[in-house]
Amino acid sequence: MLKLFEHETLDVHNLGDEETAISVEALSLQFGNKPVLQDISLRIPKQRITALIGQSGCGKSTLINSFNRMNDLVPDCQYSGKIFIHGRNINDKREDVSQLRTQVGMVFQRPNPFPMSIYDNVSYGLRLKGVKVRRYLDDAVEQALTEAALWDEVKDRLFDSARILSGGQQQRLVIARALALKPDILLLDEPTSALDPLTTLFIEELMAGLKKRCTIVIVTHNMQQAARVSDYTAFLHQGQLIEYADSDTLFTMPEFKQTEDYITGRYG
Ligand SMILES: Nc1ncnc2c1ncn2[C@@H]1O[C@H](COP(=O)(O)OP(=O)(O)OP(=O)(O)O)[C@@H](O)[C@H]1O
Ligand SMILES: [Mg+2]
Repeated sequence: MLKLFEHETLDVHNLGDEETAISVEALSLQFGNKPVLQDISLRIPKQRITALIGQSGCGKSTLINSFNRMNDLVPDCQYSGKIFIHGRNINDKREDVSQLRTQVGMVFQRPNPFPMSIYDNVSYGLRLKGVKVRRYLDDAVEQALTEAALWDEVKDRLFDSARILSGGQQQRLVIARALALKPDILLLDEPTSALDPLTTLFIEELMAGLKKRCTIVIVTHNMQQAARVSDYTAFLHQGQLIEYADSDTLFTMPEFKQTEDYITGRYG
């Protein structure tokens, strides 16, 4: 195994020579008295697609939210353990959280367009970073909307409110908003659950193309999708990481019965 950082002491999950983007070490997290994640350690490889699967409520969203410190916003959240992104401890008090969230883009489970126009939604992050040149913003907006398979549907109404878009269009809008910042890591929480099969396929193709420049972590309840798009899959159950392997192995020869029961639809 290629040892990149000091904290990478062991290759817990047989990822061979893959470079690490996110390294989670013994992460336990609770909301109030409720334990949600229990002693999770995993290494997410760079420029690969890693899927998180598991029953509703098992902690998938909580886990990816911790990769860009979204759980900081929950007042009674407590955690122990460490998370490194490209070797940097992101919970260090010196971490610049807004910079982190630029580097680690996120698409939430429920689309959350800002109360502004389609154009302003997509260019929001760039304008926040100080980009003012109109031509540059125009190009970035067009490129991100094209990548997110929305351009043709909105190109004639870029300055209309994002609120009038359908649920599936809003989901693609927030994907475009994340892409416009060209993140190193993209966290996608059930990005296609509100999309029709054709648009879903388009987004899956987008993910496959993005791998060249971006590490992707996707939460999905769709087993076919996880098997189709992801290189690695982690199966969580009641806050614990049960199994983590390359997706071919996990979906064809899972090591643990709990994994097998879940992927074959016996529960969940
Ligand atoms: N802000 C919060 N405050 C208190 N409890 C929370 C909070 N967010 C999540 N939880 C609890 O943490 C547990 C894990 O939730 P999480 O959203 O991570 O599950 P999930 O695996 O993403 O589920 P789903 O597939 O339904 O999206 C749940 O029991 C949930 O009720
Ligand atoms: Mg969730």
